[in-house]
This record gives sequence, C-alpha cells and structure tokens, in this order.
Amino acid sequence: MNKHWWKEAVCYQIYPKSFMDSNNDGIGDLRGIIEKLDYLKDLGVNVLWISPVYQSPMDDNGYDISDYYKIDPIFGNNEDMDELIEKADKRGIKIIMDLVVNHCSDEHQWFQKALAEPDSEEASYFYFLKPENGVVPNNWRSNFGGSVWEKTADGRFYLHSFSKKQPDLNWENPILREKIYEMINWWLDKGIAGFRVDAITFIKKDMTFASRPTEKGALYPIEKLINYPGIGDFLTELKEKTFKIYDCMTVGEAPGVEFEELPKYAGEEGYFSMIFDFTYDHLSTTDFDYSSKNYITLVNQWRERLIKSQQINEQVGWSPVFIENHDQPRCPNKFFRAEDINYYSTTMIATIYFMLRGTPFIYQGQELGMTNTNMTSIEDFKDVMAHTEYKEAIAQGKKAEEILKVLNRKGRDNARTPFQWEGSINAGFSKSEPWIKVNENYTEVNAKAQLYDERSVLAYYKKLVRLRRESVYCDTIVYGSFEPCYNDIDGVIAYLRKGTDSSIIVMSNYNSESCEVKIKENIKAVILSNYETQDIKDNQINLKPYESIIFEV
Ligand code: GLC
Ligand code: CA
Repeated sequence: MNKHWWKEAVCYQIYPKSFMDSNNDGIGDLRGIIEKLDYLKDLGVNVLWISPVYQSPMDDNGYDISDYYKIDPIFGNNEDMDELIEKADKRGIKIIMDLVVNHCSDEHQWFQKALAEPDSEEASYFYFLKPENGVVPNNWRSNFGGSVWEKTADGRFYLHSFSKKQPDLNWENPILREKIYEMINWWLDKGIAGFRVDAITFIKKDMTFASRPTEKGALYPIEKLINYPGIGDFLTELKEKTFKIYDCMTVGEAPGVEFEELPKYAGEEGYFSMIFDFTYDHLSTTDFDYSSKNYITLVNQWRERLIKSQQINEQVGWSPVFIENHDQPRCPNKFFRAEDINYYSTTMIATIYFMLRGTPFIYQGQELGMTNTNMTSIEDFKDVMAHTEYKEAIAQGKKAEEILKVLNRKGRDNARTPFQWEGSINAGFSKSEPWIKVNENYTEVNAKAQLYDERSVLAYYKKLVRLRRESVYCDTIVYGSFEPCYNDIDGVIAYLRKGTDSSIIVMSNYNSESCEVKIKENIKAVILSNYETQDIKDNQINLKPYESIIFEV
C-alpha cells in the first residue's frame, strides 16, 4: 500500500462561524482561528478543514457562495486567509478548504446575470426550464424540503438540490467546468493542501428531468438521484485538471456511492483521496431516540456496520474516520442514552473510532465532549434546513412541540453552537451576543477547565492524537491491517491492528455493565485506557462500564 502524508494526518474540522470571534461582533472569523492555532497545535492535529469562508449571503452559513475568490467580510479578508495559511504552516498545520461546486448562491453574479438575461452565457451555467404549461417541471424534492424547482419572475424554473438560494451549477457545460477548475487551482496555488468536496455526488442530473413514481402527492427525494450514471466523466476531468497536479488531500462528501464503485472514488487512483462513509457515524439511523429500543441490540448492529465499513475500505482504498461534523448532532447524544453520557462513554467512543484504519477527523468541540443544546423555540434554530423542515411539518399538520423535539435531537444546529473556550460570558467565544445560542453547560464543559485536567476529555483526545502521530505505534495505527476480534460478546467492540513491527488490540465495553473477556493473546503492555486502573488477570480482562483499553500483543 502506498504511503501518503494525508494517511498519516489527523484532521480537525472548523466551522468558522462558531469557532472564535476575534472582533466581538458575535460571529467567529479567520483571525479567531489564527488566535487559536496554538491550542490546535497543542491538541496535536496537523490538518484543518475549514468550512466555507468565501463571500456568501449566509443562507446556509457559507455553503451558498457568491464569490469563490473572496473571503466573506464577516470572516475577514483574503489577507487574513493568507496569514492563516502561513501561520498554520509555521506550526506544521496544513489547511484544506471546503469546495462547494454543486451549487453557488443566487446572489453570485453568474446567477444574477442569468436571471436578468435568459439568453446569456451565464444562464447556461444553471438548470433553467420553461415548461409550456407553466407548472413545476417534475416531482423532485430538495434536500431541505419542498420542490427542487423555484419559479423566476419571467416564468422559468431553476433547479436547487438544497435551498432555493443555492441554484445548482450545470456541470454539462464545459465552459462552466473550466471556470470551476481555474478557481480550484487558484486556491491550490495559494498553498492550501486540498479540499473537502461538498455534496459532490449531486453534480450529475438525469437530464430527462422525468418525474419519479411516489406515493400520491409526495415528492421524490433528490438524494436518491445522486451518483447518477455519467458522473464519472465529470469527476475524472475534475481530478485531471486540478487535484492531480498537486500533492493534495481531497475528501469527498459523496453519499450514494455503493461498494462496487468505491475503488473509483477512493482507491489509489480514485477521484478523491478518500470519501466519507456515513454508515457508522451514528448508533441508530432513526432519530437518535433510544428510550424505547433495545440498546444492546443497537450497539451490536452498530458494531457490524463499523466492521463492514472498515473491511470494505481496507479492500479498496482509504477513508476518513469520524463521528461528528457540522451536519449532525453531537456524538455523546448520538451514541448514548442520556443517563450514560459521561467521561467514560465519551472517551470510549473516541478510542473506538480513533484507532481505526483511516484518517481521523475531529469536529470542533468534540474533543471537549460538547453535547447537544436545547432550543426552546423555532427562532432559536438558525439552520435553513431546520426552518424548511419545520414549515413543511407544520403544513402537514404536525404539532410545533413535537417538531422541536425532533429538531433538538437530530438538528444540525447542535453542532453549530459556539465553541466553549471558558466558563466566562458567552463561553469566551465572543464579548457580544453570539449569532446562535451558547450551550448552557459551558461553565462545566470548556477548554480552559480541561486544559490542565489530566482526567478530561481534552487530555484524553491529546493522548489519542499523540499515539497516532508521535508514538512507536504510529506505523501500526496508520498502516496496519484491521481485524475484528472478541465480537461475539454483547457490546464488546474490539479489533486487532497488525503492523510490520507491532500488533495492538483496541477493546471497548460499549455497555453500562461490566463484562469479562478471556483473551488468547499475550498482553505485552497496556498502551492507553480511559480508566486509571485495569482489571486484568491471567489473560482475563474485566471491562468496566464504557472502558476502553488499547494494549500491545
Ligand atoms: C453539504 C454540507 C451541508 C450543506 C450542503 C449544501 O451536505 O455538509 O452543510 O448544507 O452540503 O451545501
Ligand atoms: Ca467576528
């Protein structure tokens, strides 16, 4: 297997609006990130994925770009970005940006021109249809609810897979594609190390725009039309004309890619260095409500999904490993019943995913054990998706209270509350009122309190990062093989990582009760555990609730 710098990296995702506000306007910014570079260096990460900071009306917090070449003034300016790249580099940290090219903003000058002049070249950068009968072209439903079609003043319809302020770009048009490649290379030439590539499996459409069969009146989810045949030509060209020219890291957000196609996406010669696998980043796909379900059955099913994901990715290529991002609830709430959220469970889930084969990603605040926030009214929610879903559900006759409950459990704003730096006002994120509510638990859960506390989630994450990047086990953890073991016991999740010069077992008890595991290997040394002492006698391990042990065999 080929070695690459990005296989050995530990990546940290920053959602800039919520990370650190340097000028006290309530919104996080680039100078805020610069101020916190030493914190990140101390954590030990060496790649930062920065969610979009380009000029944007912020309908979807920057995932709606109105100028790809400019930093949005709320985040700073292009010089700040240059400075960030340079100062990060001084600390051995690379920057990858978010590449959002399935769509832009309706306020992008291309779209403005397209609206004003239906015959302009810019109009051909988008999908416009003008049906004779004047009705919506088909029954496709956007990701954020409602039709993918929005009517213009002159009776045309344009397609948007996400919000109506995010018109999809027409990748069928070679002129547009060239413009995109030029922009990508412009950023790579500035010295960024690559991209996280947004919603990329949406770029190819069924150009017949035919309606799909659905239940009466229902809309057909556009997310079922992803990875449409023919997309490979676009992705090959994209790679050839941009990424391949640089030694860069590309991480595709590519939902809808089945196993058979994974080599094309994330194999050695794939379109991307790796793509996210969304099959194991939550305990249960429903709505993260475990109250009425058999917990241990869910855990066992999750273990199966995790193992399958590892085995598949090991066969064909490389993958990021992650349990949080800006689109999901916080991991303690995703993985545990409310009564089980504590230091042990939080560090256990960290251990399980961090020692897998793949490049680990940490989402800001995850390293502190940040949790979901309770929003009490729809106004508290800032996410465009929450608002479109809310409206849709109200129209369907659902009760506001019920919808809020669901949004609180699975909503994206859970991940977007301000980073909890300290116990002072606004969690030290800003001196002004933040753009989104701060989680009430900031007085207990914050970086300052954890920084010098050996038994904190943060201290534990640092140990995990160091183990991966600076220990004698690095090579085994990065390049070693993955073999599941001892998985016939309810709730025990264990795997062997076998490298050329060492072998380690990562064993966890995903359960609120103790359990015993008799092991056949000889334990040479305990490398790390989230408990101070381990109960091991004659190769019999008594695992305490939510205990993780990493040991050499
Ligand atoms: C991706 C992003 C999400 C965004 C969407 C549209 O899924 O992760 O935050 O809303 O694309 O750009
Ligand atoms: Ca600011």
